[in-house]
Amino acid sequence: MCTSDISFTTVGADGKPVLLYRGYSIYDLVKGLFEESVYLLLEGELPDQKQLTAFSQQLKKYSRLEDPVLEHMHAYPKNVQMMDFLFTTLSYARFFDEDYHNPLWQKPHENPEQVAELIVRTGLRMGAKIPTIIAKGYRIRHGETVISPDPALDYAANFLNMIGIPPDDDAVNALNVILILYLEHTINCSTFSSLVVESSGTDPYSPLLAGAASLKGVLHGGANERVADLFEEIESPEHAEAYILRKLKNKERVSGFGHRLQLYKNRVESRVLIAEQIARPLAEKKGLGHYFEIYDIISRIMLEEKERTPNADLPICLLLKIIGIPRELNTPIFQATRHFGWVANNARQRKSNGPLYRPTQEYIGPGLEEMKSYVPLEQR
Ligand code: COA
Repeated sequence: MCTSDISFTTVGADGKPVLLYRGYSIYDLVKGLFEESVYLLLEGELPDQKQLTAFSQQLKKYSRLEDPVLEHMHAYPKNVQMMDFLFTTLSYARFFDEDYHNPLWQKPHENPEQVAELIVRTGLRMGAKIPTIIAKGYRIRHGETVISPDPALDYAANFLNMIGIPPDDDAVNALNVILILYLEHTINCSTFSSLVVESSGTDPYSPLLAGAASLKGVLHGGANERVADLFEEIESPEHAEAYILRKLKNKERVSGFGHRLQLYKNRVESRVLIAEQIARPLAEKKGLGHYFEIYDIISRIMLEEKERTPNADLPICLLLKIIGIPRELNTPIFQATRHFGWVANNARQRKSNGPLYRPTQEYIGPGLEEMKSYVPLEQR
């Protein structure tokens, strides 16, 4: 059991699950900019206009990649996975961060407040680079000219522009909402992984890499790329029912359904409702309505057969698809935002002088009573 004042899932007065960041409802936060929610997570309160402008300027300033980092990216094999591309680049980029040689983190218990601040400022700088790494990395891998950050654009618009997607209002609004919905979600697997590594008193960068390693997994963040495959493989609504029934018969997991949180079992959660509300009309507008026919059929079957409702990855993945995000960027985009959730949780843990993690175990192997006698190697 651990405590948190960062995010919370509960059931609202209408009987529906709702997600709160620092006490604010996700339904309200999606009306604002992603940058506002990141500020809220890191600083504990929503920014006023002056604070938001200064914060956005910082994100823009640090979005630039140092020349050696860019050169490094050009040297990777062209067929690597984008999550590995991002992981390796972030790990390399830390060598050029202004706090890389700061030894403060080596005394976590003597300086908890200062180390927490170090975690926030390094996390902010590294996080600001993630969209640039993803977008430039994608274009390098596909032999296209890279597009540099445009300081005139807000975070989501700049992200799309660097990938090469025109930042029109629909696409910017959709990505802005996706980034907010994926930002933070209590002690999920990657946040937990990051907290475990942070608890060892390591440098401020390593827990973020641990979070990324965990997010890649297909049961966690990686599920949003499997959902994209699902829609590609089903292709048209008439194949949907047979496709899902076949998967279930083969005892396969259907990505985009189910959740570890008991609260979400048989309940449709707030992130699903918000993403659906944007994705449905946008799909119609773009002539992609058949995606939602598939969506509705597979949702019905999963409820009937397995009593499982869609998780956030199902509608978010569709939204990413509708605005033209290539499948291979789905999980990296998840990381671009959840990174700040890890930073907020790690800083909080350090500030409260959290203990070194070590779960208790129940040993079920041979003990003293059944102790085995050691036989030297040459006699075995
Ligand atoms: N597809 C098929 N069956 C599923 C399922 C899914 N997505 N989610 C749960 N089930 C089934 C399991 O096969 C199991 O059935 P069984 O006991 O007959 O074998 C049962 O439901 C277990 O359910 P539950 O306890 O709710 O799941 P879990 O806690 O073990 O797993 C997940 C939770 C998220 C790992 C699981 O739902 C899953 O694998 N989902 C797909 C991946 C995904 O979308 N991940 C993103 C999560 S946000």
